[in-house]
Amino acid sequence: MAVLEARNVSKHFGGVTAVDQMSFAVAPGEILGLIGPNGAGKTTMFDLLAGSVAPSSGEIHLMGQNVTKSAAHKRLSGGMGRTFQIPRPFPELSLVDNMLLARQGQSGERLWINFASPRRVAVEERAAREKALGLLDLVALRRLADDPARVLSGGQRKLLELARVMMADPKVVLLDEPAAGVNPTLLEVLIDRIREINATGVTFVLIEHNIDMVTRLCHRILVMASGGMLCQGAPQDVARDPRVIEAYLGGVPA
Ligand SMILES: Nc1ncnc2c1ncn2[C@@H]1O[C@H](COP(=O)(O)OP(=O)(O)OP(=O)(O)O)[C@@H](O)[C@H]1O
Ligand SMILES: [Mg+2]
Repeated sequence: MAVLEARNVSKHFGGVTAVDQMSFAVAPGEILGLIGPNGAGKTTMFDLLAGSVAPSSGEIHLMGQNVTKSAAHKRLSGGMGRTFQIPRPFPELSLVDNMLLARQGQSGERLWINFASPRRVAVEERAAREKALGLLDLVALRRLADDPARVLSGGQRKLLELARVMMADPKVVLLDEPAAGVNPTLLEVLIDRIREINATGVTFVLIEHNIDMVTRLCHRILVMASGGMLCQGAPQDVARDPRVIEAYLGGVPA
């Protein structure tokens, strides 16, 4: 059974067809790459999968359930996490507090339980803080845990995004350009961490312009152009496909 599936999904913004009849399925444990030139519709496809944009037609299925009509937060609790092309952490909050905001369904959120069982809330708070610190450690940001998020570089914000999305224990994670602005050293950290998290059974779909990263990391690649599916296949084959080279370079041979 597919973890995530798009069935004939289209999205029109006025006269613009941002996503055109896209159909694909993401297998459990897969790392799927989504590439294509600027404006191809990749981020819109993510918005449709995550539920922040409603499709003009077609269906989205998550863990075998038709979630086309469920809101983004419902899909989050259904196991879907996503990071944003431009991360916007709360600049004055510490890294750890930014992380704690990304939790799902903790008891402290439900007011009555604070009175009914303060000890349970305290235990959960401590566990969540530990988890946040562990994830910050994973992405090499632990030493900045108590600093405000505004001190982070663009690349570090991308790493914070990955750590943040993992707070909710997602089964499938959508990463929008995780490598953009990340320096080569941090990029290696990022690739290792995605592999490590994937090895625990988490499925990934990632949009990325860094072809080197995509070919190293992804099991399979989908190529979008002008909203539609141009082709799909193994990373090495896709990178050599003349249609892909044409879409990126407008016909200029590589
Ligand atoms: N909210 C919107 N309203 C109108 N048009 C939109 C909207 N969002 C996206 N579009 C248009 O849809 C098309 C696809 O945009 P999208 O951001 O999905 O592309 P992308 O593949 O993520 O590009 P990039 O690589 O530059 O991030 C573009 O023509 C864009 O201008
Ligand atoms: Mg985009």
